[in-house]
Amino acid sequence: MVSKITIKAPSSTANLGPGFDVFGLAVDAFYDEVTLTKTKKGITIVTDDNVPTNPENNTAGLVVKNMKKKFKIKDGIEIKIKKGVPAGFGMGSSAASAAATAVAFDKLFGLKLDGNSLVEFAGSGEKASAGSVHYDNVAASVLGGFVIVKTVPLDVIKIEPPKNLRMCVAVPKLEVPKKKTKVSRGVIPKQIKLTDSILNLSNASAIVAGFMKNDPDLIGNSIKDVIVEPARQHMIPGFAKVKQNALKAGALGVTISGAGPSVIAFAKTSSDLKKISSAMSRGFASANTKCQTVICKPSNGAIDRKSS
Ligand code: HSE
Repeated sequence: MVSKITIKAPSSTANLGPGFDVFGLAVDAFYDEVTLTKTKKGITIVTDDNVPTNPENNTAGLVVKNMKKKFKIKDGIEIKIKKGVPAGFGMGSSAASAAATAVAFDKLFGLKLDGNSLVEFAGSGEKASAGSVHYDNVAASVLGGFVIVKTVPLDVIKIEPPKNLRMCVAVPKLEVPKKKTKVSRGVIPKQIKLTDSILNLSNASAIVAGFMKNDPDLIGNSIKDVIVEPARQHMIPGFAKVKQNALKAGALGVTISGAGPSVIAFAKTSSDLKKISSAMSRGFASANTKCQTVICKPSNGAIDRKSS
């Protein structure tokens, strides 16, 4: 009988511009690793990283709690978390831990849950950091590739991304507020103009078409968001310059990664990815902000990874 299992889950970028809370893309920039071990009782969290160790406040802890309850599992669980995804930077950090945990729990107890159920449990962990459940990052982290999240009922559609799609991510070295996602969700308008909704809907639809047609140019030039990006960009020093520089250097489209403050540029294998990355660094430097840049490609999800 299995008593211990380790699963890795990738970072992810949510929204891709106009697909707020609906689109997600798993990216191989960073990974979290979660090891679940059966114990006598209770839920304990072991980590060397700066994450809450009270299971009620930890995404992985909440996932285990909810899955234990749902499947009436009496065993205790030790959750060992190794963070690779920087927390609070819009790279789906809490989602990666939650996704790895849901997939590990499923394998540890032989539950054989389908993709939607795994995403639902992983999403229940997101409450710990975002204050509300949203499935874009967890869906990408669990299933990999590009995902479209339909809710009520939850139904995630996965599309394999084009093989030649590449991204440059710039992660600024900033102090991020605690509960950053909650804070950055607070600045989004509650009501929007019909004309803005039409613009975003047309671009979002074109992004889906771009993924279906394996067309990075169509994906990139449809990454345009007139609703959420304008409301959030003031939270990212130098954002306008980072975006402008990346586009000048040949990026196909640029936007905030998830709730930020990372900025993501979409490109393809034939683009000059180093040039785009350094152009983004210069953009942040113009606002006296250092950043880490990562060139990445779409990733498989936690579900596709071999357990050990
Ligand atoms: N869709 C979410 C948001 C992603 O933008 O708030 C959070 O990572």
